[in-house]
Amino acid sequence: MTNKQFAPATQRNREYILEVLLQILPASGTILEIASGTGEHATYFAPLLKPRKWLPSDPNPIARDSITAWSQEVASDNLYPPIELDASLPVWNVESMDLQELSICAIANINMIHISPWAACLGLMAGAGRILPSGGILYMYGPYKLDGKHTAPSNEAFDASLKSQNPEWGVRNLDDVIAAAKAQKLNLLKTVQMPANNLSVIFQRD
Ligand SMILES: C[S@@+](CC[C@H](N)C(=O)[O-])C[C@H]1O[C@@H](n2cnc3c(N)ncnc32)[C@H](O)[C@@H]1O
Repeated sequence: MTNKQFAPATQRNREYILEVLLQILPASGTILEIASGTGEHATYFAPLLKPRKWLPSDPNPIARDSITAWSQEVASDNLYPPIELDASLPVWNVESMDLQELSICAIANINMIHISPWAACLGLMAGAGRILPSGGILYMYGPYKLDGKHTAPSNEAFDASLKSQNPEWGVRNLDDVIAAAKAQKLNLLKTVQMPANNLSVIFQRD
């Protein structure tokens, strides 16, 4: 029996995300992935982003088991074992690791802030503000509202379905995310339009 979980969307979006990552990531250092989910992104990106290293994380033990299972199949010597990390907590587990040795240069967060309470986004920004060095990158991917409006009927329907599962979930307004980032010294570098009405949103630490 395998612990591998499958998220078909990762197969559809991974090449487009990789293209952006290659443009915006520092040339060396470790990328901390928050909310790695199945681990399919981690195991796809890690070998293609060498010599950088990739540190996956997720608060869900089933997800961490899946990341481990995928990692065993797609062994890459620059891929760390997954760690437990809940973005909404005031201190992250990774902060008790040797940060100098890890040399975190970027944080990647794909498809999380709409499938978690707003506190997770605020926690993500606070943690990124604490652990990223000056010039460090926060990469985010997902659907967003622009000027408070959905960008496509499919995103509006997705938002309604998220809220029906949990009223604290929902597609976020980009301006609110930018303001939350700014409060933690993370400046918007750029946004990139992605397929299926998603956006890459890239911040840089002051
Ligand atoms: C829709 S999945 C996305 C997973 C993966 N990034 C992808 O794109 O396939 C959302 C993930 O967010 C994680 N998550 C939810 N709340 C979180 C939090 N507060 N901190 C970190 N991760 C969280 C869940 O455990 C889940 O793995």
